[in-house]
Amino acid sequence: MILLGIETSCDETAAAVLVDGAVRSNIIYSQIAKHAPYGGVVPEIASRDHVKKLPGIIKEALHNAHCPYDKLGGIAVTYGPGLASSLLIGYSAARALSQRLDIPLTGVHHHEGHIYSVFLSENQPVLDGAFPMMVLLVSGGDTKLVYMKAPGHYEIVGQTIDDAAGEALDKGALLLGLGYPGGPVIQRTAEGGNPHAVRFPRGLDNVGGEWKYDFDRKLCFSFSGLKTALLYHVQKNPEIIRDESAKRDLIASYQEAVADALAVRVERALEKYDCASFACAGGVSLNKVLREKLGTLSRKCRIPLKLSSPRLCTDNAAMIAGAAYIKWSAGNPFVTPEDVNPNLRLENWSG
Ligand code: KG4
Repeated sequence: MILLGIETSCDETAAAVLVDGAVRSNIIYSQIAKHAPYGGVVPEIASRDHVKKLPGIIKEALHNAHCPYDKLGGIAVTYGPGLASSLLIGYSAARALSQRLDIPLTGVHHHEGHIYSVFLSENQPVLDGAFPMMVLLVSGGDTKLVYMKAPGHYEIVGQTIDDAAGEALDKGALLLGLGYPGGPVIQRTAEGGNPHAVRFPRGLDNVGGEWKYDFDRKLCFSFSGLKTALLYHVQKNPEIIRDESAKRDLIASYQEAVADALAVRVERALEKYDCASFACAGGVSLNKVLREKLGTLSRKCRIPLKLSSPRLCTDNAAMIAGAAYIKWSAGNPFVTPEDVNPNLRLENWSG
């Protein structure tokens, strides 16, 4: 089965070709430079840029995979969640191509793409022995713990009650004047800094108070207090911004707080649920400190950790085609969505 994947849910225009689930090409065009002056993604700019770039990106993906259009067996496209106007560009292109080539089209949930990216490589994906699996999903807009008893079975067991981890990094970086996106720039600037110089809150540490959510409080995240703590710290110590070494320590401490808050909840989840493996997926899973912490946890608990290769961590289309292939291999037929759905929820597979 040769699949073309298309992803345009936010600010990456991406296309990829997979042969029997093995990645043959994975082209990603990032719009970061276009959005950076505004400190975040501007939907109108994003969709206009997708329109311009997507045809060329699809051609490049097919060319790099040595795959002519008539060899394609199907198309997989992200149809949610994401920015409506951006999703529409990829969805419309995928739909038109599938009709023109008379091949099936299937819609993929963006987070399913991130989750199954941990199984993708230049070889066919192997899922045996990985389930039950706990997944920490950390993208720009989401922070969730998803317990998967089997492929296609999703139980959300914890989530952020305010900001996502990626958002905390992006907003923290903006506050410190480091630019956008925050994750990579924070990781770079924190290099060599003392991560214990400033003790930042880890979110929901203090028990007590009202708890109105259905989730176990110990498995939930909160990052809005962390951002406020950073603001207060800088307001109280304005000289820190001009002192390179103190600033590096501050940033390293902020990054440490984000990574630690995530790793602690993963450890609690592994204690509570029976897991054959655990995984971390989404843009923030690129973070070196987080990867190290999860690696240490894996050795401590003796539970294997699955991480995507760096090019598959941030938004890409290989993960979209990969998720479609894995779902199809498990007996779920391709389903063409009628429209995009910016608020699409993760649903269990029926096949
Ligand atoms: O998954 P993703 O590419 O896009 C969404 O689907 O949201 O994630 C983007 C997020 C941004 O918040 C960005 O700051 C973060 O991933 N990120 C990182 C790193 N690279 C990207 N966070 C921490 N460390 C990194 N190296």
